[in-house]
Amino acid sequence: MTGAQLGDGNLWLHFTKTGQWLDGEPQVPLLDSGEGCTVTAADGTRYLDGLSALYCAQLGYGRDDLVEAATAQLRRLPFATNWSVAHQPAIDLAAAIAERFPGDVDHVFFVNSGSEAVESAMKLALQYHRLNGEDRTKFISRMHAYHGTTFGALSITGIPALRKPFEPLRSGHFHAPNTNPYRCIASEACPPCDLACARSLEQIVLAEGPDQIAAIVVEPVQNAGGSFTPPEGYLDEVRRICDTYGILMVSDEVICGFGRLGEWTGAELYGVTPDLITFAKGVTSAYQPMGGVAFRRHVGDALRQEASLMYVHGSTWGGHPVAAAVGLANIAAFEAEDVLGNVRTNGPWLGEQFREVAERRQIIGDVRGVGYFWAAELVRGRDPFVPFDAAEADVLVNEVLGPRVRELGLICRIDARDAPVVQLAPPLVADRQVLTEMLEILDVALAEAGERMRR
Ligand SMILES: Cc1ncc(COP(=O)(O)O)c(C=O)c1O
Repeated sequence: MTGAQLGDGNLWLHFTKTGQWLDGEPQVPLLDSGEGCTVTAADGTRYLDGLSALYCAQLGYGRDDLVEAATAQLRRLPFATNWSVAHQPAIDLAAAIAERFPGDVDHVFFVNSGSEAVESAMKLALQYHRLNGEDRTKFISRMHAYHGTTFGALSITGIPALRKPFEPLRSGHFHAPNTNPYRCIASEACPPCDLACARSLEQIVLAEGPDQIAAIVVEPVQNAGGSFTPPEGYLDEVRRICDTYGILMVSDEVICGFGRLGEWTGAELYGVTPDLITFAKGVTSAYQPMGGVAFRRHVGDALRQEASLMYVHGSTWGGHPVAAAVGLANIAAFEAEDVLGNVRTNGPWLGEQFREVAERRQIIGDVRGVGYFWAAELVRGRDPFVPFDAAEADVLVNEVLGPRVRELGLICRIDARDAPVVQLAPPLVADRQVLTEMLEILDVALAEAGERMRR
C-alpha cells in the first residue's frame, strides 16, 4: 500500500494532540531509519535522539547483533507462550535478570510493556497478601509519577490530567509528595532535606491503615516531574516503612532499569532491595516489546504454599521468545561493551556540562539527575525563584522551545506536566561528542527561549 498519509487519520497517535497531526501539515516527525544515536525522518531530516526513543533505545540504532539474535530466534521458534509451556530463551533471560537484580529478587514474570509490568506487580501484591491471610488492597505512589495507562497502573499514576477522563478508577490509591528539594512540597524548611517527603509517606500509611496497604510503588528516580533523584536515605526510609508495616516495596524501574542510572537497577544504585521490581523498555533496548516484574523469594514462596496455587495472571505474548532472545543479546552487548561503565563515566560529566549551560542561561532554575537521565527545570526568575505560570509554561514548551529544539535537530523531552522541564536521556552508548552536540543545541535554544520569554 503506498500513498497513505499520516494526516489521513487512519493511524491514531498516542498521547498526541490531534491538531499536531490530523489537521494541516503534521508537526510530528515521520521517522524512517536510525543509526547510532541518530534517527532520520522520511524527508531526510536527521535528529540526535536525546530521549533514546522513549527512554528505551539503550544501545542506539542499527545494532546487527540484536537483529541477528531476533532473526535466528524467528527461524528456530518464532513463537511460544509462557502460558503453561516454557522455552529456553525466556528461561535464560529470567536467569540473567535474576543474576543482575539485587538480593534475592530471583523470580521473573514476563509481559509486554511497562504498564503491564506495573499491573502485574499490583496484582501480585494483592494476591500475595490474600494468600498470607491479609486483606490489603490499597496502594501508595507519588505525585506526578507516571506508572502507565492500564487501569491499575493509571490509578497509581500521580498525574491528575491523565486519570481524569477515566475516573472513577479503582479506589484506594494515595499519592505522597515526590522528592524535589528544588520545590519541596513536603516541607517549607527544605532544603536542607530532612526527609519530610518520607515522613509524609509514612503519615499516609498511618492515616489509611497500615494493615490495609498492599504496596508502595516508587521509581528510584522519578521521571515525570523531571529526573527527581531521591535525597540521601529516602529509599532506605521507604524500605523501613514497608518492613515496619508489612507492606511490599515496588521499585518501578521501567525507565531506571537496564543502565539508565549506570547500574542494572536504580535499587542497586541506592542500595535497597525492593520486594518487586518492574522493568520494560531497556530490557531489549527497544528492539522488541517486553516488560516484566521480578520479585523476591518470599513473594514467590506465598505461591508455593500449596502445589495447586498459581499466580492468577498471564498474557499470550508474555516472554515472547524473540523478545527474550533479543534481551539476552542486549545483556551480552552491555557487558561486552561496558555500557554501564560508559554511563558511570560520562553521566556525571553530562551533569556538569548541563550545569555549565545553566550558568549561562538564566531560564534554567535547577539541573538534576544521575546517569544518562538529566533534567533542567525552567523558571521565569532564578534568584529569587519565580516560576512560569501555566499559560507561560504552555507557550514556552509548545510554541517556543519544543519546535526550536526539533528544528535544530534534537529530540528530547520538553514538557510542563509539573513545572516546565527539558530532559535529556540519551542512548547509553552515546559518547562525549554526541552528548556535547546535544547540549550545544539546548544551549542555543535555551538562550533564545530566555530572550523570548522575557518580552
Ligand atoms: C516508570 C514507568 N512505569 C511504567 C510505564 C509504562 O510503560 P509502557 O509505556 O511500556 O506501558 C512508563 C512509561 O514510560 C514509565 O515511565
